Amino acid sequence: MKFFVDTADIAEIRDLADTGLLDGVTTNPSLIAKSGRQFLDLVAEICDVVNGPVSAEVASTDFETMLAEAHKIAKISHRVAVKVPLTPAGLKVCKIISSEGTMVNVTLCFSPAQAILAAKAGASFVSPFVGRLDDIGQDGMGIIKDICEIYNNYDAFKTEVLVASIRNPMHIVKAARLGAHVVTAPASVLKQLFNHPLTDKGLSQFVDDWKKTGQSIL
Ligand code: E4P
Repeated sequence: MKFFVDTADIAEIRDLADTGLLDGVTTNPSLIAKSGRQFLDLVAEICDVVNGPVSAEVASTDFETMLAEAHKIAKISHRVAVKVPLTPAGLKVCKIISSEGTMVNVTLCFSPAQAILAAKAGASFVSPFVGRLDDIGQDGMGIIKDICEIYNNYDAFKTEVLVASIRNPMHIVKAARLGAHVVTAPASVLKQLFNHPLTDKGLSQFVDDWKKTGQSIL
């Protein structure tokens, strides 16, 4: 399973890249606005830090402008995955730029039916938003199960399931059990994966007992 961090905060990205466990980054217009940075400069900077796909989203909703934006974003780096919304225009752009060799992340996916369309449009990634479905009382993880099952039925579907809108570590564990290819989560949630009170307790005991031996390994 690949780990992407869902942020436009370059300090957070550097910090996580340092763990050696980070496989990519996803951003969206809301995260860019929060960062206060220039979009194109920031995406280029992220591409220099991370050795993996960096999702950067178009801002328009009409086909012509979206295609022009997608081409401009794609020029930043071969690491860029252009993010397009799951709309007829977005999928049209997806089909064109995927066939040109650019990775595409189809975002704002909320149903298995939409995920089938993204795969048919040649997307590298589809992003179903589990947290936002949970927020309205629906079963976010349920659609991940359906999408993984559907994609597994067709060798021609090469799209990776990128579980997005992750709210907690259990979302990640459940996504892994279902065989989803990628999760994208806030840095805080990725860091929570390390935590277990018994790890802290056990380590403290080992450190104390080692001191009693009076030895040094180095
Ligand atoms: C995915 O690519 C999106 O940026 C993201 O996961 C949305 O998450 P949110 O629902 O927490 O905003």
